[in-house]
Amino acid sequence: MKNILITGATSGIGKQIATVLSADNDLFLSGRRKLDKVNYYACDLVDMFEIETLYNKAIEYFNSDIDVLINCAGQYIYKPIEKMSFDEISYLLDVNFKSAYILSSLVIEGMKKNNWGRIINIGSISGVVGEANASLYSATKSAFNGFSKALALEVATNNITINTINPGWVETPLAQNALNQEERQEVIDITPQKRFVEPIEIANLCKYLISNSAKGITGQGINICAGLTCGC
Ligand SMILES: NC(=O)c1ccc[n+]([C@@H]2O[C@H](COP(=O)([O-])OP(=O)(O)OC[C@H]3O[C@@H](n4cnc5c(N)ncnc54)[C@H](OP(=O)(O)O)[C@@H]3O)[C@@H](O)[C@H]2O)c1
Repeated sequence: MKNILITGATSGIGKQIATVLSADNDLFLSGRRKLDKVNYYACDLVDMFEIETLYNKAIEYFNSDIDVLINCAGQYIYKPIEKMSFDEISYLLDVNFKSAYILSSLVIEGMKKNNWGRIINIGSISGVVGEANASLYSATKSAFNGFSKALALEVATNNITINTINPGWVETPLAQNALNQEERQEVIDITPQKRFVEPIEIANLCKYLISNSAKGITGQGINICAGLTCGC
């Protein structure tokens, strides 16, 4: 039984991760929408003060340290670089990457004290292979690569692992909003396995990565993309 904090837990991938991990762990969840649950805090992760409050609420709920942090909250912006506003640039960097970095900085002390911890970042294959018209999104996701490797080295002797899961297209509200019917079919056509990735595949990998069997996996980016990064 571990104390697990999951961001982006109200929808899509994060919601499925919460469902799978709730079977044998204690969870504290967050998203922006209002939900009436004792183990939930609604906040916008663009706000640094709110991130700290989220951390404090989780600690208060567990009455103990956080063993596992899953940074799943994120948004997608698809447009050419010259159309990106300064506000959008700051916003996406803050929500997709800075919030995960700050939360990691907050949980790491307790993990070191307990000589055990797991941090999982939900990246994207757009941060592995790049995606035209998603340069900002790709940048926020590839940031997890350097972050995971560097932090993995920093805490390698503390029994703490840091990894990034890079999904391909997953059928969630994010993907449904980003793709029209024609684009959805294109995704299926260009994906070697001719399908979307399912949220459960990502949730099950999280379950494995937090287990002791995965203690040697650290600083890695693991692609679950139905073959999309393999080439053609
Ligand atoms: N779907 C894909 O094809 C795909 C592929 C690769 C990577 N990913 C990544 O997987 C993660 C989850 O995506 P998803 O597909 O599950 O999307 P989703 O269904 O839209 O869920 C996004 C989650 O993030 C939360 N969130 C968004 N902006 C936030 C903010 N400013 N502050 C706090 N919480 C915020 C949402 O909370 P509310 O809904 O309550 O506002 C929601 O819980 C994201 O990081 C995404 O980049 C997705």
